Amino acid sequence: MTRWVVPDPKRENWYWPNDAMRERAWVSDPKIYEEAAADPVAFWAKRAEEIVWFEKWKETYIDEPYAYKWFVGGKLNLSYNSLDRHVEDGKGDKVALIWEPEPPDEPNRILTYKDLLAEVSRLANALKRLGIKKGDRVGIYLPMIPEAVIAMQACVRIGAVHTVVFSAFSAEALRDRLLDSGARLLITADGYYRRGKLIDLKPQADQALAGTKVEKVIVVRRTGHQIPMHPGRDLWYHELVKGEKDFCPAEPLDSEDLAFILYTSGTTGKPKGVMHTTGGYAVQVYITAKWDFNLHEDDVHFCTADVGWITGHSYLNYGPLMNGVATVVYEGSPDYPDFGRMWQIIEKHKVTVYYTAPTAIRMHVKWGEEWPKKYDLSSLRVLGTVGEPINEEAWLWYFKLIGGERCPIIDTWWQTETGATCVEALPGIGPFIPTVAGRPFPGIRARIVDAGGQPVKTGEGGYLVLEPPFPPSLLRGLYGDPEKFRATYFGEFGPRLYFTKDGARMDEMGNIRITGRVDDVMNVAGHRLATAEVEDALSQHPLVSEVAVVSRPDEVKGEVPVAFVLLKAGAQPSEELKKELIKTVDKYIGPTARPADIYFVEDVPKTRSGKIMRRILKALVRGEPVGDITTLRNPESVEELKRIVGYKG
Ligand code: PRX
Repeated sequence: MTRWVVPDPKRENWYWPNDAMRERAWVSDPKIYEEAAADPVAFWAKRAEEIVWFEKWKETYIDEPYAYKWFVGGKLNLSYNSLDRHVEDGKGDKVALIWEPEPPDEPNRILTYKDLLAEVSRLANALKRLGIKKGDRVGIYLPMIPEAVIAMQACVRIGAVHTVVFSAFSAEALRDRLLDSGARLLITADGYYRRGKLIDLKPQADQALAGTKVEKVIVVRRTGHQIPMHPGRDLWYHELVKGEKDFCPAEPLDSEDLAFILYTSGTTGKPKGVMHTTGGYAVQVYITAKWDFNLHEDDVHFCTADVGWITGHSYLNYGPLMNGVATVVYEGSPDYPDFGRMWQIIEKHKVTVYYTAPTAIRMHVKWGEEWPKKYDLSSLRVLGTVGEPINEEAWLWYFKLIGGERCPIIDTWWQTETGATCVEALPGIGPFIPTVAGRPFPGIRARIVDAGGQPVKTGEGGYLVLEPPFPPSLLRGLYGDPEKFRATYFGEFGPRLYFTKDGARMDEMGNIRITGRVDDVMNVAGHRLATAEVEDALSQHPLVSEVAVVSRPDEVKGEVPVAFVLLKAGAQPSEELKKELIKTVDKYIGPTARPADIYFVEDVPKTRSGKIMRRILKALVRGEPVGDITTLRNPESVEELKRIVGYKG
């Protein structure tokens, strides 16, 4: 069993790559950081040369306020770089995708690069036949089945813009996204399996369509159970692609052509459409996948994120495929048929890179170490985490139980907006330290500033910002809302500092520890969610008069929403009503957004102008000092709330 790391002789729980890892690593000389910092634009240009361009770019970077651009004038295609490139290189028979269905007795579906190219081409040809053209938006509402990857690839192949919606989101959430993006077509499925149960998907899709511009719905047959099909509108995927040619040339797209829109939570109730373009995204996703996980041809990469999140886009689909490795797609739940499923998958497919979220690790910690111990995990080389700060206990468990103290943990900090990882330790360079993400990726300028935008001292807490040249895969805008784009990311510090909305501190070596969001965005079990979205959903209930949602820490999920609900006159609080409120949240967002606690209250603390002081509610549910309440219009409300939440601050 190969070891890949050694402990630091002086610092407890610090690890470094050993010689075996350094030798295998794409980068092992820390000089890369200085070289890249001296000329980041040249650094990225060099990286861009590693992917295939139909036409080379004319200008590497344009540094215009709010309109930065990369590889300008270059022409390329993400799907070409994911598929054709490898087939043309004679690697068509290499495994590209391993699908693991949830029912343990159902066979895997294994697609080679040749197979995947043929599948993607057939769907791309069908989309063209249905009139989908470059720039048209296509909604994808699919479970974790190969067709999710195929659909995304087919879209970018012809220049259509995909917008993937998490399959556990409700019909309302899907409708919002279809409306906002103006999607003309939706690709969905009859259903899928989760925790051994058949989950219906089509009825939600049907419900979501009212009022949208969707003209056609392509339906993948996954479960085979009876579902309603609307004649003239709904088309079975397998029938649609049957007669199509198995090759569709990849459209040469402009580097700055829109590749996809992905909706994410901001601080308001309405999710925003993050726009990613083609060239910068391709380059940064390609190189970060390669360097972070040290991907080589023989790697089997297992990213547990759903395709509905940016992690699924970048490190389940595009990143691994652009690097020519095998990517594992698992349909179901990590606890089915038992708590050992993920480890069984690793053993079965000889997974070498495992990339998951701290919330998942904490769940495994709870389930007990006997589960991973049952399986042979010696194929693993690199472990990754993403989505939220990882606590030391979870890090050490992951390191010992899963990595056998042999594998580096790459804690990758990034966002839907950055498209690809931005802060992490590289496997051949290190160090790997619990709770510390690492240095900014070479070529990325990150710093920690105070509220005035001035750099803080080493070790001091502040706000994490990115400086120009901005990362190539940074979002180019919010769909249909240029004003909001400027205000959200450049409102605090101006166009020269992209504000991540994360708090952080940096040590002398430049290692960054992320302390968490500083806005009203929560990370619930690795899912990004605005408190305002949950408030909006709860307000839809006819008996709710006013509602405030804040987050509190949770041992497993990281954070969970807590709701303070004021009822309309005459309405009575009850357990029944709590259940109804939960159902309302399910209906408007999905079960991931369910509040952990719902408190029925008479009043919430407000400013004199009537604004709810969520800061105080947050302190109350966290048992933290409440601070000055003398400026409140109703300071007496705080005492009552202390009693209700059992405050022991
Ligand atoms: O707060 C940071 C946290 O997740 C936020 C971005 O969420 P989302 O757009 O859903 O993307 C998640 C997957 C990239 C960030 O603002 N976050 C992400 N990665 C880390 C993290 N917090 C701490 N450590 C990380 N490695």
